[in-house]
Amino acid sequence: MKYSAIALIVFSLLYCYRPRETRLHWLLDMQDSHAVEAQEEDYTQTEVFREGYTRGADELPAWGGDHSGIRVPPEGATPRNYAPYRYAQADIEKAGAELRNPVPRTAEALARGKDRYEIYCGVCHGLTGKGDGPVTPRYSIAVPAFSTADAPTREWSDGKIFHLMTTGRGAMKGYAAQIEPADRWTIVHYIRALQAQK
Ligand code: HEC
Repeated sequence: MKYSAIALIVFSLLYCYRPRETRLHWLLDMQDSHAVEAQEEDYTQTEVFREGYTRGADELPAWGGDHSGIRVPPEGATPRNYAPYRYAQADIEKAGAELRNPVPRTAEALARGKDRYEIYCGVCHGLTGKGDGPVTPRYSIAVPAFSTADAPTREWSDGKIFHLMTTGRGAMKGYAAQIEPADRWTIVHYIRALQAQK
């Protein structure tokens, strides 16, 4: 009896010993899916199955190179939680006329806009929007002000400011990659707040 108990323990431990996986899986069926996951090696892309290595058994091109489980996304696929921006850089007037600020102008939105503005815009456009940030003297052209009496952006729609911030123009690069759309709208609110200050 004693030995069979020991044998059972030893057997269980050996059974569970899988060097490259988490130990002690009792029911493996649902834990290790046979489907190839994005970060895994794709075993269907071996010499045995294919020549050329570039496609898996599903015939889709592998994005990460030979033997990679990652597939090239189908054309038009967009990442989750990501809305494609539908205006080209030159469409500023169209974007300005069509886009509306979806973020309500709340105290939180303004605080968030201030925070983002001071990180991303203040270095050039100045913390109070006078176009006098610390980087400005090093710039080859004058950085426009937002809050001076003659600042052109006073006449701009929210959408136009949003568009310029998104796609950039001339000497200013777009900030689509750095700042989430909702945060860009809060920055627009904050620029308006700077413009309202005396
Ligand atoms: C590295 C410096 C720099 C930073 C940072 C920067 N800008 Fe600019 N911005 C410029 C320059 C330079 C121009 C003028 C571009 C041109 O026409 O060539 C400009 C132009 C603009 C304009 C057009 C203003 C007008 O009167 O025509 C807007 C709006 C604007 N920026 C918004 C922003 C916002 C919002 C941010 C932060 C997300 C930002 N910029 C960050 C340098 C910068």
